[in-house]
Parts: sequence; C-alpha cells; structure tokens
Amino acid sequence: MAEVKIWAHRGCSQRYPENTLLSFEKAIEIKNLEGIELDIQLTKDGELVVIHDERVDRTTEGIGFVRDYTLSDLKKLHIYAGSDKSQTVPTMEEVLDLIEQRLKEGMKLNIELKTSIYPYPGMEEKIVELVHNRGVQESIVYSSFYALSLEKVREFEPEAQIGILDTKISDCLFKLKSLRAEALHPFWKGIDLPKERIKDYTVRAWMGGHLYPEKPTGTRLDLAVLEQQGITDVFLNEPEQYL
Ligand code: G3P
Ligand code: MG
Repeated sequence: MAEVKIWAHRGCSQRYPENTLLSFEKAIEIKNLEGIELDIQLTKDGELVVIHDERVDRTTEGIGFVRDYTLSDLKKLHIYAGSDKSQTVPTMEEVLDLIEQRLKEGMKLNIELKTSIYPYPGMEEKIVELVHNRGVQESIVYSSFYALSLEKVREFEPEAQIGILDTKISDCLFKLKSLRAEALHPFWKGIDLPKERIKDYTVRAWMGGHLYPEKPTGTRLDLAVLEQQGITDVFLNEPEQYL
C-alpha cells in the first residue's frame, strides 16, 4: 500500500464547488486527510478571501477582479452549488472558524498566496497575523508561485512552514537555494529529477483534474507510481475517493 498522504485541493472540489465552505465542510469529514489546500486573494478593502482566480467570472455570476470588489459587494455574488444551497466566496476568517478544531487535532492547511499575477501589497503580513492571532501557525503550510511572497512570509514569520510551488520540481529546488523551505510543491507531471535527488524532501504534488460541476472521468491515480517517483503527498480534487 502506498503511503502517499492525501490533501483536499480547494476542498472536495470535484463533487462540490471549489474553495467554498461546503467543499471544506466535506473535507473535514474525511478521516485521515492530511490537509486542505486553498487559495487566497485580497478584496478592494483589504480583506483576505478564499478564491482561486484573480477574477470572479469563472466561479460566480459576477464580472471583474476580486481586487475591485469590497467584501460586502463580493458577498452578494453566488457560487453555484447544484441542489445544495448556493455558496459565497468565503473569507479566510470564516474558513478558519470552520476548520480550526480539525487543525488543532492535527490536520494541516496549505494557504496558497495568489500573488504571481497581482502582487497584493500587504497580503503576506495580513495572513501571517491572522494565523498568529488564531494560534494555529504550526498547522499551516504557506505556498506561492511567487517566491518573493514566500520571502516576505519568512520575514514576518521566521518559523513558518513553506512549500515551494512551481511546475517542475527542478525549478522548486532552484528556488530553494535562495529561500529556506520545508517542502517542494511541483505539478504531479513535473518530476524531472531522479528520486535520488529529491529523497530528502517532502514532495507535495498537485494535479489539475476535474472540478465541480464537471463530471469525473472515473480515472484514478496509481499512488504507488507517484511514490516511486519520490512524491510524498498529493493534492487531489476528489480526496474522498482515496481515503
Ligand atoms: O498549491 C497547489 C495548486 O493549487 C497550485 O495550482 O492553480 O490549483 O492553485 P492551482
Ligand atoms: Mg492552489
């Protein structure tokens, strides 16, 4: 049996709308889940919100950039959730309210700062402060495609756990040379180095895959094959199918 650890990517984002309280509620029900991954952006009035895209168009009926919405206007938008009640874009506070108990019981949370397209000045300090105020810093892994953001997180929180995010694992390792980090977060098809080169690292691989409300293809990853490549953890849209 492969010992690859399973994370819920954007929550349980195959059967439920990604990055919503509903997708996170379903994730925390899964026993033995290693953690949840989510993405953060900042509103016009500086609130940390959980949404993958810089724009609201794909996941809500709205149009435009998250950064041009105040939190109260963003909250008026709906996220389609089928027969379940429609969802709204959650704040980081709301997500922590929901999952804090599970974090205290050992589950982890990977907060991906979506700063590579728009840098969101001040985001790093805000998220570190929020996590600190909640006292859950030991359960958090920060990641970003934008290395300078991770450098700022390290500055505000010297003990932060950081996962270096990139497509190829060789690029993750390259960035690791200028930034202390605990883990590498490559695309699952981006393992372009032999296992020997990465065996000393936690390697959390992410995959694209189908998102709600697309139908799943029914295909399943062979976790043993990933493990042979040196992958220790995987972010999946459908973690409930593996645990
Ligand atoms: O953090 C892993 C993964 O989520 C990175 O890609 O686009 O799904 O945020 P994306
Ligand atoms: Mg992400």
